[in-house]
Amino acid sequence: MFCMFSNFTMIHAGFTKSLQSLHISLSFHVGSGCEEPEAFSVAIQQARVVFDQGLDLGFPMTLLDIGGGFPGHEAAPVKFETVAKTVDMALDRYFPSEEGVEIISEPGRYFVASAFTLGVNIIAKRVVSRDQQGENGELIDQPSLSEEPAIMYYVNDGVYGSFNCLLYDHAEVSVNTLKNADEDDDEFKYESSVWGPTCDGLDCILKSVPMGMHDVGEWLYFRDMGAYTVSAASTFNGMPAPTRTYMCDADLWYEVYPNVCKSYHKAGVCKGLPKMKAGHSLQEEWSPAPGCAESFVCN
Ligand SMILES: Cc1ncc(COP(=O)(O)O)c(C=O)c1O
Repeated sequence: MFCMFSNFTMIHAGFTKSLQSLHISLSFHVGSGCEEPEAFSVAIQQARVVFDQGLDLGFPMTLLDIGGGFPGHEAAPVKFETVAKTVDMALDRYFPSEEGVEIISEPGRYFVASAFTLGVNIIAKRVVSRDQQGENGELIDQPSLSEEPAIMYYVNDGVYGSFNCLLYDHAEVSVNTLKNADEDDDEFKYESSVWGPTCDGLDCILKSVPMGMHDVGEWLYFRDMGAYTVSAASTFNGMPAPTRTYMCDADLWYEVYPNVCKSYHKAGVCKGLPKMKAGHSLQEEWSPAPGCAESFVCN
């Protein structure tokens, strides 16, 4: 077995042996959330070197696994198409198809990042004068001089939960409200900050963001929260991990499962999300119909 390290990429060779033949595969992972497509071409080039060493030693090198590291949402710093083009060019050059080497990959983030939207509920709020908010959002005991207040929203998920991606995955998140775009555009925006529920000063989701006025009980949501989020969430300070609710466009659902959940009507299934207080689960108030497990049809 041989193994080679470049700056960020580990190339790993593995063996599988059947009675008839010995197969040797090579894999690398350029690093999750990779922002430089060139990392793939360099890794593929280096894999070629290792492949050739294996061939020189008489090993049957049959498979290259180019790992994960592909972007998973539209706003990612690098487009998936750019990475794919770079990978294609490098493979054509270093592992031309005539050679017959099998190429596989292990995309993770690519599949799941955009599949999940995280809904959070406002469980508390403070209206403070701007000059009462310190650099880290902490309250400073000074009289108010500013006319416009700043708003601190506390929501029921934070950096110890799904937003651990802010600490560990270099994630940047943007908040959305349930108001329609024109309604939202017209509304006055206050300087706001969004905080998790743990009362820990580190538990800050957004330090400063312009937002309209929202009430306790209202929902905010964050798109593209499917990768490296709830999978690493803790229940620090007794805060439960978020409940997962699966939804599918009605037409798509009926296409894939024509005979399941026919009783669901398109309208009404996800109409009006119930208001929720800290620690309460959505499903206490809103549960799937019998026989439909945890899947919902949403139109
Ligand atoms: C061995 C291996 N393959 C693939 C992946 C998926 O990586 P990504 O989400 O960056 O595509 C991971 C992520 O941890 C991994 O450890």
